[in-house]
Order: sequence, then structure tokens, then C-alpha cells
Amino acid sequence: MKDKLHELGARAREEMAEAGSPEALDEIRIRFLGKKGELTRILRGMGGLSAEERPHVGKVANEIRAAIEKELTAKSAALKKLIKEQMLHNERIDVTLPGTAVWRGGRHPLNIVLEEIENIFLGLGYTIAEGPEIETDYYNFEALNLPKDHPARDMQDTFFISNEVLLRTQTSPVQVRTMEKTAPGLPVKIIAPGKVYRRDDDATHSPMFNQVEGLAVDHRITFSDLKGTLAYFAREMFGKKTKTRFRPSYFPFTEPSAEVDVSCVICGGKGCRVCSHTGWLEILGAGMVHPRVLEVSGYNSEDVTGFAFGMGIERITMLKYGIDDMRLLFENDLRFLQQF
Ligand code: PHE
Repeated sequence: MKDKLHELGARAREEMAEAGSPEALDEIRIRFLGKKGELTRILRGMGGLSAEERPHVGKVANEIRAAIEKELTAKSAALKKLIKEQMLHNERIDVTLPGTAVWRGGRHPLNIVLEEIENIFLGLGYTIAEGPEIETDYYNFEALNLPKDHPARDMQDTFFISNEVLLRTQTSPVQVRTMEKTAPGLPVKIIAPGKVYRRDDDATHSPMFNQVEGLAVDHRITFSDLKGTLAYFAREMFGKKTKTRFRPSYFPFTEPSAEVDVSCVICGGKGCRVCSHTGWLEILGAGMVHPRVLEVSGYNSEDVTGFAFGMGIERITMLKYGIDDMRLLFENDLRFLQQF
């Protein structure tokens, strides 16, 4: 019986030496030492031994069991260590390898230009105001001195939602909304960027486009203030050498009114294809706030004056970057957008 026990011990040792995984060791443990294992089976024969022999055989059995268990524990620890080392080796990270580049996206050229415009006017002490894109006939037209049958409404082909509700055709309604809120407080100094809508669609017109409105109201505001402000804006926006030119024009909500040109940003005023060989580019409309607009908005037009201007952001963006088709700004073609 002792021989059988020693033979079992030797076989167990051999198998343990070959085991390559913790699972294999578990299987060996169960097969040799488990309740239905080989050792148990041998010990069941102890009943046939003499009283003298029994303790000796029991001792040998215990020694062999202890030896196998010890070896199992040691082997299992060694195996785990080996596996961990292999994992550490396989999953090693080379921190000197270049990382996977992440495409961070970029700003849309319209937003780049809008932010530039905002920064110029914020620097002059203006704040930013906003108004709704779905607007009433009253704010978009009537309060701006354009009554229902006024012919100047034809200049802005309008998307009506109902008789009294429309998609705003200009950011000028924000003038009235802001003054209503501020009156009789002074000064009013705001710019109002936002989307506007007109029934127009070709290479230089889009049914949806962006404007920035400007409004300054205070005691003794003059046309010179308007000229100085816009000349400063043009130099900041298009470069120190940029000249400005005011041409008489007509808007129902300003009097007098002007159309403002800057010296051509491409040829500097010599004349080229972009400026149709005139040397000038029209960039905005402006004027002194009409007394009637001041009055309907809650100001005494005998007491205060103001100037206003409005520009199209698409147009300024196209001039600044030499873009010849406005539709590029709305198509979201990455080949175009990645250039900014
Ligand atoms: N709202 C005018 C337009 O869209 C521009 C403008 C704004 C003119 C303010 C004068 C004063 O054409």
C-alpha cells in the first residue's frame, strides 16, 4: 500500500511539472486529492491493514498529501506570476509611438468672420443683442416706418407665415425691440447678429443668410460718429489701408441713409474683376435713425439721436476670403471648409 502511495506521489509530481495553466492544476488536485480522488480510493483499503501498520500508512498518506498540496500551491503561484509577466509584456505600450490623430473640427468661415466683427464692436463698448427669426410684421416693417402698402417692402421679398407673422428679412427689428426694452435709458449701443430670410437664390444670394445690425442712440449722436465708427470698423476688418466711401441711399428707417463701400480688398482700389473695375466694394447700409422709429420705440426724437447700420456676413466673408459662390458657405463640403 505504501508503494501505491509513493507511486501516486510520483505521478502527481510528474503531472504537476507538466501542467501549463491554473485550470490544469485544479484538475490534478481534484483527480488526486478530491473526495472521489485516487488518494481516497487507496486509503479506503486501510480497513484491511493490521493495527500496527495502519498509523504508518496513515502517516505516509498524510505526508504525500501535504507534499502534493505544497507543490500545487507553489506551482500555482509560479504559473500566475508567469502569466502576469506575459500579459505585461504583450500589452506593453510604446509611449514614444505617435498617437492616433484626432480631427478636431474647425470653425466655419462665417463664424470666424462673425466673431471678428463682434470683437471689433465689443472693443468699442457695444453689447450683443438678439431677436427672434420668426418675427411680426410690426417689428420687421411697420415700426421701421414701412407701413403695409409701402413700395420699399418690395426690396425684401418676404416669406410670410400669416398676414402678421413672417421670417424676418433683416436684423433691423432688433433695433426696435432693444430700444423698447431700454427706453428711456441711455445710451443704447448694441450689435445684433442673426439669420434673416428672403426669397432669393443664386450665386450671390441665399434664401437664408446672416446679418449684423448696429445701433447707437444717445444725446448728440451725429453722422460723423457713424462715419468714424464704420471707417474704424473697415480698417480693423480689412486692413489699416482700407478707405471708406458713403453714397446717398434710401432706407425707410434711417434719414439720411447711405450705402457704404470699402476700397477693394483684392486690388486696393486700382480696379479688378472682383470690384468690377470700380475700386470699391459695397459692404453695408447705414444712416441716422429715423425720428419716427425713435418715437415708436419710446424715445423723444427732440432729445436723442442715433445711427444704425446693417451688413451681410456672407458678403463680407466672400470679400475677405475671395469666395465667388455663396452656396459654398452652406454646402458643408469638407474640401472647402478645411481651408479655414
Ligand atoms: N436692414 C437693411 C437691409 O437689410 C440694412 C440697414 C440697417 C440699413 C440699418 C440702414 C440701417 O438692407
